[in-house]
Amino acid sequence: MSATLFDNIGQLVTNDPAGGSDALGILSSVAFVVESGRVSWVGSAKSAPPCDSRVDVEGAAVIPGFVDSHSHPVFAGDRSEEFAARMRGEAYTGGGIRDTVARTRAASESQLQANFQRLVGEFHTQGITTFEAKSGYGLTTEDELRSLAIASTGTDEVTFLGAHVVPPEFSGNTDGYVELVASQMVPQAAQIAKWVDVFCDRGAFDVDQSRLVLTAGIEAGLKPRIHANQLTRTDAVLLAVELDCASADHCTHLNEDDITALANSNTVATLLPGAEFSTRSQYPDARRLIAAGATVAIATDCNPGSSYTTSMAFCIALAVREMNLSPAEALWAATAGGAKALRRTDVGALVAGSRADFNILSAPSYVHFAYRPGVNLIAATYSEGRKL
Ligand code: NIG
Ligand code: FE
Repeated sequence: MSATLFDNIGQLVTNDPAGGSDALGILSSVAFVVESGRVSWVGSAKSAPPCDSRVDVEGAAVIPGFVDSHSHPVFAGDRSEEFAARMRGEAYTGGGIRDTVARTRAASESQLQANFQRLVGEFHTQGITTFEAKSGYGLTTEDELRSLAIASTGTDEVTFLGAHVVPPEFSGNTDGYVELVASQMVPQAAQIAKWVDVFCDRGAFDVDQSRLVLTAGIEAGLKPRIHANQLTRTDAVLLAVELDCASADHCTHLNEDDITALANSNTVATLLPGAEFSTRSQYPDARRLIAAGATVAIATDCNPGSSYTTSMAFCIALAVREMNLSPAEALWAATAGGAKALRRTDVGALVAGSRADFNILSAPSYVHFAYRPGVNLIAATYSEGRKL
């Protein structure tokens, strides 16, 4: 078994509050050892166990790999014209999802796979080592299963989002489409996916329809998560807590009951600042969520409509500047928070036993993600101890 010592780390973010000064568990001037894809030891270099090789990071900061708990990377085409129209003042309604559905249905498997792999490459070069990937631009049984199969070539965190919007052939018959999703799509999707999701919002599915879809998914062995309260306030967050969803995502419009429910639950509030940026919408009140004791994650929401970014660093900078998270809270939300939103304990931290997923930065401190916005600070990314 070969062991590698990563040495001369100026600042190590462990996300282990027991080991360091705050929630980030920051250690200075340390080293760690990677064996068989896992971190096997963390400490001062002079007490390191014998190793077969050594990587000198030359005083840089090292952070856990980013955990992106919300993305839609299986689709064809783009919607740059829709974005330009929004920047001229048009509102985002989610209606453009149907344009991407048409493009996705018309695309060949190899075109969809190539676009997916391109986005996975972008995730990796920007430090994302774990990502969730949703279907939701197929909206027929066959097209949804095709999207799930493509997503499963890049990640284990595959989410069935057949209830993204009502496809044109079911226009005026939302209940009929919900029935198709719950009785026909869900059982087959459960052979490939791990999660079930629904867009519970104005113009998509109401709370009762969403409950039907999520409950069918749970009965088929899928774990629930939900798009909640992006466009308007509904009881979607309360439904998330009722069904013990791992995460309620967006959380842009919340009332006091929603915040209290999240704070007293195991449901993470996943915030997607790229979506507010790209739709020129108000940002969620992250400070109220944190003050109440809710667990907050940040994710990219990468999709061709509301947030066409694969950059977690950009989302961190937005979270700091526009949602008033501290740089430490934002980094935690993009690593440990994302892991909690996927109910993973093996990623999102760098302690003995963690998966060796980490980023070496071309910066002395994680604060630089917000301090130097738009600059690529990822010098190297390792996944299970292997350099990507
Ligand atoms: O999370 N809100 C629903 N789904 C996506 C947007 C999809 C799209 O506009 O294509 C989201 O923002
Ligand atoms: Fe989304």
